[in-house]
Order: sequence, then C-alpha cells, then structure tokens
Amino acid sequence: MKIVNTIAQLKTIVQNAKKEAKTIGLVPTMGYLHEGHLSLAGRAREENDLVIMSIFVNPKQFGPNEDFASYPRNLERDTRLAEPVGVDIIFAPSVEEMYPEDGGITIRAGRQSEILCGASRPGHFDGVLQVVAKLFNLSEPTRAYFGQKDAQQVAIIQTLVRDYNFPLEIRTLPIVREVDGLAKSSRNVYLTEQERAMAPSIYEGLIEAKEEFLLNKNVRAAIELATKHITNKTSGKMDYIELLSYPDLKEITETTEHFLLATAVYIGKTRLIDNIIFSLKGETANV
Ligand code: PAJ
Repeated sequence: MKIVNTIAQLKTIVQNAKKEAKTIGLVPTMGYLHEGHLSLAGRAREENDLVIMSIFVNPKQFGPNEDFASYPRNLERDTRLAEPVGVDIIFAPSVEEMYPEDGGITIRAGRQSEILCGASRPGHFDGVLQVVAKLFNLSEPTRAYFGQKDAQQVAIIQTLVRDYNFPLEIRTLPIVREVDGLAKSSRNVYLTEQERAMAPSIYEGLIEAKEEFLLNKNVRAAIELATKHITNKTSGKMDYIELLSYPDLKEITETTEHFLLATAVYIGKTRLIDNIIFSLKGETANV
C-alpha cells in the first residue's frame, strides 16, 4: 500500500493504471476509519484491479460552527486499518493541495439538498459535491463506493453523476452497525459513556416507526412514535425525522416504491444521523 499526498503523484498512478486497462475503485472518506468505511474498501477490492481510498477532512462541507477543527484525524491508525482490506493507494492531500486558492468555481447541489441534513447544514452538500467531483476527476474511477449511512449524500451524488455525465458507477453499501444497533460513525468517539449508552435508541425508534408505517400507512403516526421513543430514551434533541421517497427525496405518494426514514439527533453536542430504506414489503431496499 502506498500513501500519496499530491495530485501529481495520484495522477501518475491513475495514468499508469489506465494504460494497463485496469479498473479503478474509489472509496472517498474523511478518515478515522471504522468497519463502515472498511466494508466499502472490501467491496472495492473484490470488484476492481486498483483500489484508491481518499482520506481528506474536507473544510468546504463544514459550517462555521461545526466540528472541522476537532474532527478526529489519525493517518497512522487509518493506514494500519486500510492495508489488510486491500487498499492499494491512500490519497491524503493537504487542504492547500486540494484548494490552492479561494474564490474559484463552486458547485450548487439542487432540490434534494434543501431538506433533511441540508436544511440544518446550509452549504454542506455543495461542499461534498465540490470535493467528490474533484476526487472523481483525479482518480477516474470505474466505480465509486458510498455508504447508505449518508443516504441523502448518495442520492445527491447520483444526481451529480447523472447531470454532469461522470463516466463511472456509484455503488451503495448497507449501514454497518455496532452490536447494539448504533450506526458506526467516526463521530461516535465524541460520545460520553452515558451518551453512548443512550445512542442505540435512535435506531430502535426508526425500527418502531417503520413497523408502524408498514402496518397503518400513516406517516404522522409513524414519525410521532419514533420521536417519542427517541426523546424519551435519550436526553437528545431531535434535529429532524422524516419519511420520504428514495432516492428522489420527495413526499411519499401512492406509487412510492422505496421509502427513506431518516433522522438526525443531537446527543449532547454530537449530531448523529441514521436511516432505514425499505419498500412496502418491508425489506431493506437495494437502491
Ligand atoms: P465519511 O463520513 O468519512 O464517510 C465515508 C463513507 O463511508 C461515506 O460514503 C459514508 O456513507 C460511509 N459510511 C460511514 N459510516 C458508515 C457505516 N456505518 N456503514 C456504512 N458506510 C458508512 O461521507 C463522507 O465521509 C464525506 O462526506 C465524503 C463523501 C468523503 C466527502 O468528503
């Protein structure tokens, strides 16, 4: 495994791989790796000749009062975790390498970014698209791997790929959870012991809401049930909880096939997100 910090180095590697007609799998991350990230890398390993993982805490997707400065970083630890799953190249550029000057061209995410996380994190998805578009151009992947953990993010990236004709395939993998159901996240390290003990109620609430919805098809009742469960069981403050169609992220109708039940909850100062994607038959949808 090789760690590269510059765009020039990465480009040379990509050009050589292309000359040899190798397929490239890209796994974009912000590091502080856990099994969620590693599941993406593992799948990329199975499906491609060359696996590139980017590790870059992207300042453009953090708001002024968010945790850019304190976001956990440990490249040495990440390197140790990435090697055994078969990552070939870690691309870990500096902020200056990725964004040499300010005031350049930005990308604006569309309608899908105005709701859910986009409503409470203005500009967040614009920043995500900016870095993802750069990573696509730099690594020219055959396939790029994302987690359903950030379901809205994948939906918006799918739209970017469609609207800007990026010649690649987006692969989405299921949420990897702790044994008690809490979705794995780099931000879980912020939780105190007490907060960590409460956090699984987020997923429990989502499951209750999903079952209620499948039974009675009543969105409001389902949302109320989950809200009650989560607010009773945690000291957390609900940011949002919504049931929408997926991946278009619109109000559900009679013809909706795939449903996204998504929430963001503040447990103490930590904002945790989780979701379930399902169809009327109940099973997790593979979208
Ligand atoms: P990050 O939060 O590091 O996540 C990197 C990838 O891992 C994302 O596709 C995310 O959905 C996936 N992931 C995170 N937790 C997961 C879990 N528990 N199970 C499965 N997959 C999980 O998402 C980002 O970084 C950034 O926004 C990025 C796309 C890299 C752009 O900066």
